[in-house]
Amino acid sequence: MINKKSRVKDVYATPVGRDVIDKLLLQLDRPARLVTNPLVSNLRMSTIERLSRKQLNADFWDTFYWLVNLEQDRPGESHPDPSQSWWKEAVFYQIYPRSFADSNADGIGDINGIRSKLDYLQSLGVDALWLSPIYDSPNDDNGYDIRDYKAIMDEMGTMEDFDLLLEEVHKRGMRLIMDLVVNHTSDEHAWFQEALHDPDSSYRSYYFFRPGAKGLPNNWRSFFSGRAWRYYPEQDVYTLHLFSEKQPDLNWDHEPVRKDVAEMVRWWLEKGVDGFRLDVINYISKREGLPDGDKTIGDLINFIGIENYYYGPNLNKYLRELRQEAFDPYHAFSVGETPGIGLEMGRLLSGEDRKQLDLVFNFDQLELPGKWKYDNYIYDLNYLKKYYIKYHTRLSDNDWMSVFWENHDNPRMVSKVNPDPKQRRPLAKLLLVWLLTMRGTPFLYQGQELGEVNQKFRSIKDVRDVEALNMFEELRVRDGEDAAWATILAGSRDHSRVPMNWDESAGNGFSKVEPWLPRPERDNGWSVAAQEEDADSVLSDFRKLTALRKKYPALRRGSITFVKAKKHNYFAYVREWQGERILVEFNLCDLSPVRSQAAASDKLLYTNMKPASKQKAGRRRLQPYGAAVYLCS
Ligand code: NOJ
Repeated sequence: MINKKSRVKDVYATPVGRDVIDKLLLQLDRPARLVTNPLVSNLRMSTIERLSRKQLNADFWDTFYWLVNLEQDRPGESHPDPSQSWWKEAVFYQIYPRSFADSNADGIGDINGIRSKLDYLQSLGVDALWLSPIYDSPNDDNGYDIRDYKAIMDEMGTMEDFDLLLEEVHKRGMRLIMDLVVNHTSDEHAWFQEALHDPDSSYRSYYFFRPGAKGLPNNWRSFFSGRAWRYYPEQDVYTLHLFSEKQPDLNWDHEPVRKDVAEMVRWWLEKGVDGFRLDVINYISKREGLPDGDKTIGDLINFIGIENYYYGPNLNKYLRELRQEAFDPYHAFSVGETPGIGLEMGRLLSGEDRKQLDLVFNFDQLELPGKWKYDNYIYDLNYLKKYYIKYHTRLSDNDWMSVFWENHDNPRMVSKVNPDPKQRRPLAKLLLVWLLTMRGTPFLYQGQELGEVNQKFRSIKDVRDVEALNMFEELRVRDGEDAAWATILAGSRDHSRVPMNWDESAGNGFSKVEPWLPRPERDNGWSVAAQEEDADSVLSDFRKLTALRKKYPALRRGSITFVKAKKHNYFAYVREWQGERILVEFNLCDLSPVRSQAAASDKLLYTNMKPASKQKAGRRRLQPYGAAVYLCS
């Protein structure tokens, strides 16, 4: 047990302790040496408590010890026989169905629209598709609020359409995974409706109901602004909702919830889907009694309550159970969305010996230390480099990681790194080279293959996302309209949710009518149709890169060794598999060239620079945002 008598090094030796300390160091931009040097690492925690008395009170330390002691296990340091599972070698492509392709001219993408684009998807060289939710939903959060887990949303089509889609995906040799949203349901789900209206219903325990008479049950915040509790005056009760007030949290401590979820997962797997992406799955186990969030932690991370559920007491148990009951019998794949966890917790959730999840999405790479999504700042790729180097020095044969930096919840990476239109093409290509050659499983978000950038939304009227709309209201009152809009414009999830840019026609080939979310500006030359005609387009290079990945096993399975890791603005690694060695290098800035480490005899397999042939052997340079892949001699 870790307590005030423990030494700093004992805390750092625990997975949760290490992750918490590493996160703090990251935010403060301090190296690990700060805690690993002998002087500090031998200090007792009581001394640290005393030294930090002004900033951190007793409540903070109670919470800290509770968290650290929650997890007694350690990540496996190696696996004698790591699996060669298909998903370790696959390239995943995330589809946001609402914005992919509209087949029935209602302005909303649908299942038949996706089916009509399967040849395109296959031509990209991707192996698996992940569909954001298409289940029946009132769409408060675009389908992440599910009303019926076994029905298809009207706007998306029918179950027959879905069955056909699945068949056609499989026919093309691809796989399909679905989104599994089971931290919460919609408030319109039959379970919740019955629970709300009948206090004696057995569904009452499916959610977190608390009597109104006692006032607000705790001080937790919702991720979508305001309190995490909704009050129902007629029933005089509160219910917990970590997301919108139409997304009440399910109570996983109640066994029938877990049984029903497992049954529903089996139902879909029985249909033949290949796995699931599990939405905010690390939030399913809440601390007993739902105690107040610690104020100091709240001030530090600007959010209250999360320490009580981001790695809750029964998380490992529930995940193991779900895997045994539902995933394993079907050999189904699972990737968990796990916001807030660190590297070691991620290893515990996805280590091969642990039999919980296959992969996790960790989000530490998405923003620079001290920043968050809604800050308007320039993202330095040297940080992304440091992140991956650190990650890979900790991973063992027992671990495998997901590689990604875009999805439907984040603005476009090209815009974050460098919004200069002149840099768009080389930078978008550089990022794709990185995504497809780094060790791990790449997850691509729709439009990334086109080098999509953020939108020029004109005002809040162009925005549809509940997160942004709620936040705008809150900020407008606090900071005024202009400041509120600047914040929303920087980070809105709608940047990545706009309709796909299929062609240069008025509706971008997405829909014949006005789409549910506008693309305010034409983006001539960047559509699929335009890029198909251009051998040097981002799209063309994306295909070259997936083909390279297929051809060279080192890029899929190989070990990774970093080259000149300390050299600023330069990033390089060697992937190696059974004697095949591939060097990948990048110039991380837009200003000056950097010297390449490739030998004269190394064979250039790919570059985003031109004209590559003119570069003299042995004196190769990487131009601004240059990327190159070599087969080493
Ligand atoms: C994470 C999803 O990615 C996001 O889009 C959604 O709003 C929340 N979870 C709530 O389900």
